[in-house]
Amino acid sequence: MSPFLLTRTLPEDATTAALRADVLHGLTRTPKTLPPKWFYDTRGSELFEEITRLPEYYPTRAEREILAERAPEIAAATGARTLVELGSGSSEKTRFLLDALPSLHSYVPVDVSESALNGAAEALLADHPDLNVHALIADFTHGPTLPVTPGPRLVAFLGGTIGNLLPDERALFLRSVRAMLDPGDFLLLGTDLVKDEAVLVRAYDDAAGVTAEFNKNVLAVLARELGADVDPGDFDHVARWDRDNEWIEMRLRARSALTVKIPELDLVVPFEQGEELRTEVSAKFRQDGVRTELAAAGMDLTHWWTDGEGRFALSLATAS
Ligand code: AVJ
Repeated sequence: MSPFLLTRTLPEDATTAALRADVLHGLTRTPKTLPPKWFYDTRGSELFEEITRLPEYYPTRAEREILAERAPEIAAATGARTLVELGSGSSEKTRFLLDALPSLHSYVPVDVSESALNGAAEALLADHPDLNVHALIADFTHGPTLPVTPGPRLVAFLGGTIGNLLPDERALFLRSVRAMLDPGDFLLLGTDLVKDEAVLVRAYDDAAGVTAEFNKNVLAVLARELGADVDPGDFDHVARWDRDNEWIEMRLRARSALTVKIPELDLVVPFEQGEELRTEVSAKFRQDGVRTELAAAGMDLTHWWTDGEGRFALSLATAS
């Protein structure tokens, strides 16, 4: 059995410090915002898993369809010996790549959640006992330093999570990904695509109310981590398509005028009735935009695969 290595690049208290800074910044400006990464405590991660199984939420199934069909092509085009996965989570879709890459030497999952990394590694090693798994506890948006493993490297960023970054953050992120690549290495990028507005809005405002609960879960995180006296029932879930920016926005709308006290930050946050707090941007893409953004970061788009219905795309790019 190969070794399982785990490297922590974040201090144990990094998460709390970052949460405090984000809350202080986001809740004292107009309009109010919070970054979507704070959805994902244990409950939030469970709710997201539930979202991926909803009839309305097509991206996970569409991306899985592409991976199942195209993994052999991806393997042939890259000949990857190291697979790096940014924001690996449960590594569920990674299996298609691992199964298709016979000469794979190392798998490097990168995630902020140590429990997700341990669980995923245990499950993968059961089926791939010869794989070297070197997990990194790291914030993938900051271009972590990778362990020394054989090339070529394939860096995968799946799920459409790049859509959670705003355009300027995206440009910085893609540059940090480019800095991880040597000549002959590859990026595999998952992006949700622009489509009919009703389909998009339903995917973020499902009939069973799971996405509403996921959205409100960020308030539970504030209550637990920072002592905020906030009642999720005081807010409504809002999902809106922004046609100009081509992104979905999730917001929490105050049902009445209220204040949220956050003693740990010495902060009292007033909401007017109907005032909205933006909790997530989920950008949708077109092939031209992806190609242009990759090029601006020093990468060339070489392959573009979509699911049968053209809802979601996987892009393969090389370091130019
Ligand atoms: C995990 C970021 C890809 O933006 O579609 C699902 C998160 N938010 N439903 C997305 C999410 C609301 C999801 N990503």
